[in-house]
Amino acid sequence: MIKKGIKLIKNGKRIDGRLAKQLRDMEMKIDVISTADGSAKVKFGNTIAIASVRGPRALFPRHLQESQTGILRCKYAMAPFSVDERKSPAPNRRSIEISKVTRLALGPTTFLEDFPKTVIDVFIEIIQADGSTRVAGINASSIALTSAGVPMRDLVSACSVGKINGTLVVDLNGEEDNNSEADVAFAILPSKDEVTLLQMDGLLTKDELIELLNLAKDSCKKICELQKGVLREKYKSE
Ligand code: CDP
Repeated sequence: MIKKGIKLIKNGKRIDGRLAKQLRDMEMKIDVISTADGSAKVKFGNTIAIASVRGPRALFPRHLQESQTGILRCKYAMAPFSVDERKSPAPNRRSIEISKVTRLALGPTTFLEDFPKTVIDVFIEIIQADGSTRVAGINASSIALTSAGVPMRDLVSACSVGKINGTLVVDLNGEEDNNSEADVAFAILPSKDEVTLLQMDGLLTKDELIELLNLAKDSCKKICELQKGVLREKYKSE
C-alpha cells in the first residue's frame, strides 16, 4: 500500500525500536494441536500463526482424487479476534489469494506424486495479526508438515521485506505494512535456493528490488535456522 507522510523511522529506529534490517523477536513451537498429524505455532513479534496438517490421507469424495498424484490443500484464515476490528470469519478475496500462494509456496517441497489419490490439508489460522501474516503462516506450515512426517525436499522459509520512509527494511509489522511505499512477500527452499513465493505491492527501482531480495534471502536463512532448531529439539526428545 502506498501512503506518504507518516513517520515510521526516527533517528534510524523503527516504531517498534528495531533497526532497518532487524527481524522481530521470533518464537516457534511444534505440535501445539494434539488432533493434528503435525502442527506448529510461529510468532513474529505480535503476529501469531498456527498451522495444522492432516494427511496424506485418502481423498473423499473420490471424484476429487488424482490417480497420478496427491493434492495439497491450504486454507489461510484470520481469526475474528486477530485484529482490532472484528474480522469476519468468512473467506474473502484476500484469504483466498493467500491460501493459493501458500499452496504454491509449499508445493515444490512435497513429493505429492508419491501419494496418488490422497490429500494433504494445511490449515493456517492467524490468531494475532500484526503484519507479515502470510509468511508467518508459511513458516509454520513448513515445520508442521515436517512434524507430520510428510516427506519433504527442503524446508520452506519465508519473510517480508519492504520500503518505508525511503528505507529498505525486513519483517514489516502491521503499521509499516499499511503505510509502506512497497512490500514484498518472499519464500525460499533454503538448501535448494529455489524461490517459491514472490509478491510485491508498491513501487521499487530495480536496484532496490535486488537489494531487498538479498535481504530477504539472508533473513530466510536465519528463519530456517530457527525452524531447524525446533525440529531438532522435537526429535532429540523422542
Ligand atoms: O499479513 P500480510 O502482510 O501477509 O498481508 P497484508 O494483506 O499485506 O496485510 C497486512 C496487515 O494488515 C496484516 O498482517 C494485518 O496486520 C492487517 N490487516 C488487518 O488489520 N485486517 C485485515 N482484514 C487484513 C489485514
